[in-house]
Amino acid sequence: MNFIRIRNIACFLVFLLFLSCCSSRKTAAPFSVIPYPHEVEFSDGVFDMAGSRFIVDPSVDAASLSYISKFSDELSCVSGRRSPVLRGVSGRGVRFILDAALPDEAYTIDVTGKSAVIGSSSYRGFVYAIQTLRQMLPVSIYGGVRSRGDYVLPCVRISDRPRFPYRGVLIDVGRHFYSVDEIKRCLDIMSVYKVNVFHWHLTEDQGWRFESMRYPRLTEVGSVRHGTQIDYDPTHLRPEDHGGYYTRDEMREVVSYASERGITVIPELDLPGHMLSALAAYPELGCTGGPYEVANTWGVKKDVLCVGQERTFTFLEDILTEMMDIFPSEYINIGGDEVPKDRWNACPRCRKKMAELGLSDRDGHTAGQYLQNYVTARIQKFLNAHGRKIIGWEEILEGDLAEGVTVMSWRGTGEDVDPRIWNYSSVMSPRGYMYIDRYQSHEQDREPFSIGAYLPVEQLYGYEPYKGVPEYGKERILGVQANLWTEYVNTEEYLEYMLLPRLAALSEVQWCSPEDREFPRFRESMDRHRDIYETMGLTYAKHLWGVIGLPGNEYPARSPEELADYLDGRE
Ligand code: ACM
Ligand code: ZN
Repeated sequence: MNFIRIRNIACFLVFLLFLSCCSSRKTAAPFSVIPYPHEVEFSDGVFDMAGSRFIVDPSVDAASLSYISKFSDELSCVSGRRSPVLRGVSGRGVRFILDAALPDEAYTIDVTGKSAVIGSSSYRGFVYAIQTLRQMLPVSIYGGVRSRGDYVLPCVRISDRPRFPYRGVLIDVGRHFYSVDEIKRCLDIMSVYKVNVFHWHLTEDQGWRFESMRYPRLTEVGSVRHGTQIDYDPTHLRPEDHGGYYTRDEMREVVSYASERGITVIPELDLPGHMLSALAAYPELGCTGGPYEVANTWGVKKDVLCVGQERTFTFLEDILTEMMDIFPSEYINIGGDEVPKDRWNACPRCRKKMAELGLSDRDGHTAGQYLQNYVTARIQKFLNAHGRKIIGWEEILEGDLAEGVTVMSWRGTGEDVDPRIWNYSSVMSPRGYMYIDRYQSHEQDREPFSIGAYLPVEQLYGYEPYKGVPEYGKERILGVQANLWTEYVNTEEYLEYMLLPRLAALSEVQWCSPEDREFPRFRESMDRHRDIYETMGLTYAKHLWGVIGLPGNEYPARSPEELADYLDGRE
């Protein structure tokens, strides 16, 4: 009997030894965190997260606790070993602590062989810490299903914080409509990259996507266009209706989904131009009275809101009131780009308004530009009175822009933008670097048809927002945004193809200090990020891996010699 018991104990000890050997043989995934954290210091060893207790300090708020709990559920599910969440206990595990000394959005991670300690002073800080932890684990963490792997972290100390407080991505749902599920998928990947603003471009000449209770024709009429221009020739139309809009509940759902991921949704009501879809629904809002049609071609349209009549302002204030009810963001984007003044100059009401306001062409600006200043200032006053701030495209600078506006630059960089922008807080979104509707290779006949020009990931990565900016202007740059305009982006797959992997490069421009940015390191990390996209089931562009085109229509990239011949042949 005794002998059998001793033999059993011996077997058990051998088994324990075997287990401990297994765990010491576990290896951490290559460190490929994007955006690269500000300070990273490695030491030897790993910490096994699978089955570790998540210990949350009592001072950590309920929202952060809920986000942390979701991460523990995710880890438990993929690793197959449960990570319970406990509050205020001592002992080993993954510990989350409130560190009030850290700035907003900053976080620290301290991993030793025995524990991992995560500190932050804010909800977003915990979100970002968890996104960094996820990137350090096997990519199966993004898959949501049980999967073999070493769920271990390398021993490392990380101290991280963003360079800019505004880190945005615009998606134009006016030119093409995308489902709520697709918007959520985009928010999921934005959150991986610590983007914190989703600029939702909800209204356009070619489609009105915002459900209004007071103006139902905006969606009944304005959300559907009859035909779509399919290449650069405006007579080439796909003769099908294209439409769609978001209900109020759906938009609220998106706001809450984004907010859980640390993302603020800033809606855009583009005014007073880019309004043909609204004019088609309510022609009395235009200078000529119409009739108007929802645009089925691209380009800047001459028909804009008539601002010489009070009912236009009533309409705008009503819509903004409905928007504020759904979107709690501090900022509302009021557009202001590409407003031809032709109709105003010919409209008796608009001309009367200009005369009443004493507007004339002076100091290099037209009376029409000053009339747009009047519109901007009225809307600003209205939104300020409701506790909101405005952002608008850089055209709002033309004339006399009031104080307190944030200007979004899109036509130039620090070197060539209208220098008056530096008198305002600004968000930099120069088209040469940040317009991600552009081609990703020179081989345009192998790409899905796009708006033109060329913006490879390397170029986006190389954008330096401070270049050419005077010192006083640097202080007022809130951040950087990439814009995905969607004239030709007619499927959700194509949308993702344009976003990825450029979103990864964008995140380093938005988050990293210039000295932390390094393209070769970024490029090497992208191999693992490609696996993340695969695991999340996202479509992405493969130019970094020598492949061009959408799935189902992929080509190997030409060799440099072939490419040179091809480009010569085109000239
Ligand atoms: C813009 O590209 N019109 C902002
Ligand atoms: Zn008018």
